[in-house]
Amino acid sequence: MGRRRPARPRNVRSLADTAIRMTEHPLPGTSAMEAPVVVASNRGPISYSRDDRGRLVPSKGAGGLVTALSGVFFHDDATWVAAAISDEDVEIARGGRAVGAGPSQRVRFVDIPSDRFDLYYNEFANRVLWFIHHYLWDVPRAPVFGDLTHEAWRAYTEVNLAFAQELAKEAKRDPVYLVQDYHLALVPRMLRELAPEARIVHYTHTPFAGAQYLRILPTRIRQDLIRGMAGADIIGFQSRAWAENFLLCARQVPDLHVDLRSGRVASEDHEGQVRTLPVAVNPHALREAATTDRAKEARLEVDEVRGDRKLLLRVDRLEPSKNIVRGFLAYELFLKQHKEWRGKVTFLALFSPTREKLVEYQTYADECLGEATRINEELGTKGWEPIEIRLQEDFLYAVGAYGAYDALMVNSVFDGMNLVAMEGPLMNERHGALILSTNVGAIGRIGRYALTTNPFDVQETADAIAAAMELPKEERRRRARGISRSVLAHTPETWLWNQLEGVDELRRRSLEPSEKSQEPDQPRRTFDDQIGGGY
Ligand code: F6P
Repeated sequence: MGRRRPARPRNVRSLADTAIRMTEHPLPGTSAMEAPVVVASNRGPISYSRDDRGRLVPSKGAGGLVTALSGVFFHDDATWVAAAISDEDVEIARGGRAVGAGPSQRVRFVDIPSDRFDLYYNEFANRVLWFIHHYLWDVPRAPVFGDLTHEAWRAYTEVNLAFAQELAKEAKRDPVYLVQDYHLALVPRMLRELAPEARIVHYTHTPFAGAQYLRILPTRIRQDLIRGMAGADIIGFQSRAWAENFLLCARQVPDLHVDLRSGRVASEDHEGQVRTLPVAVNPHALREAATTDRAKEARLEVDEVRGDRKLLLRVDRLEPSKNIVRGFLAYELFLKQHKEWRGKVTFLALFSPTREKLVEYQTYADECLGEATRINEELGTKGWEPIEIRLQEDFLYAVGAYGAYDALMVNSVFDGMNLVAMEGPLMNERHGALILSTNVGAIGRIGRYALTTNPFDVQETADAIAAAMELPKEERRRRARGISRSVLAHTPETWLWNQLEGVDELRRRSLEPSEKSQEPDQPRRTFDDQIGGGY
């Protein structure tokens, strides 16, 4: 069968330059663009369960990571290695077989004993790494790292090693490895030890903590995590802000040499390149989702909730980084300061439950629901409930609701990118306004068309709600179009392509030592996407 390549992306900045250099300096071996791709992530693109008749049935993995990586489905030869999460995944892993995810894609599950998985995933990845990269601790009180944390770190190390060993089995095919997220930070270095010539990209979907905050972690753990990621050829981030944070953190690791201007991180035997490579949404998949019965049904229901009022919408996982409580407080303040809007707006909040095993999440979920109830009791009237909540895992419902909002609130305390901020405006049919936290990666791509807000400043967020409600029609239209255009200029395929192109560029650079030393070290600006200014 012929090799099926991704459609040539429209916006790969240096593709023409690369093509010229490719003919001048052909790479030994297969170009990354042509090589097999091996993805590694904790949660895979599919997970299995059994239907009523006991047959194994796959369902699509949830979350932005899987959405972002949908570009690999355009790749002709892709293997995806993921943790076995359901009992059925474990069964498949134990059988030692790969399962098909698409015409030429395979998924292989790594079998991890359930007690070790719990420590690696809940205790370490979620309770420690998620919290540090989103600045979620109430620092005078938490965290307290004791023996449980250190045991969780050991489990995290074991799981990362199990992934690296599984990935190394593919090394003879000389693939490009795409290792995903904070769950697998140690994998690049471990894999390089097993397969020194491997081409490895590590990509972080979340923010990356600043250098002082990261020092909350136990010293050895902090240094090992950075060293682990620095074992990759390309170390990718959603925004320049997170890339800069990583470089500044790496500068504090004794055996790493960091060049802040070029974004290079070198150890004794390896040099990695930090790059800003923001993910994209898949407009075709979204449009298809909007044609489903469930999405259409949801749209009708949400239109009914709105009635002749304005609709303020939020769509989030029910979790602390999303800043749900302050969002409700801002709405309450808006209603108190703009009494004329009482009864004329409804705040519909769609929450999907997540990581319910963590007590921090349970407490936060209670707080969010408690605040909504209090506000409804204090401000609601007979025919009007200021806040309506739907607690459900229902992506199609969200897609239906996207069409109907007048304003969308995305006020995360920190967020790697935030796909809702891009998906909503793509699907909205009312030229709705976007209220956007200044601390999300998406700000670089669409911030200039949004009503931006400091997520900690409830007054500023209340003002943004007022502005969203009162924005003149023409201005709403201009902003909504601007967001759609910016979002559509990037696709999951170009995101993947940029990573592969980066791998080739590095290899080429390593073969041109004399040219390299003559070049001045310029800061790389691969996209104009960034939070705030440079460093
Ligand atoms: O997709 C968004 C994301 O935040 C990723 O960064 C991360 O890998 C994933 O969600 C983790 O979610 P979960 O714990 O549900 O697998």
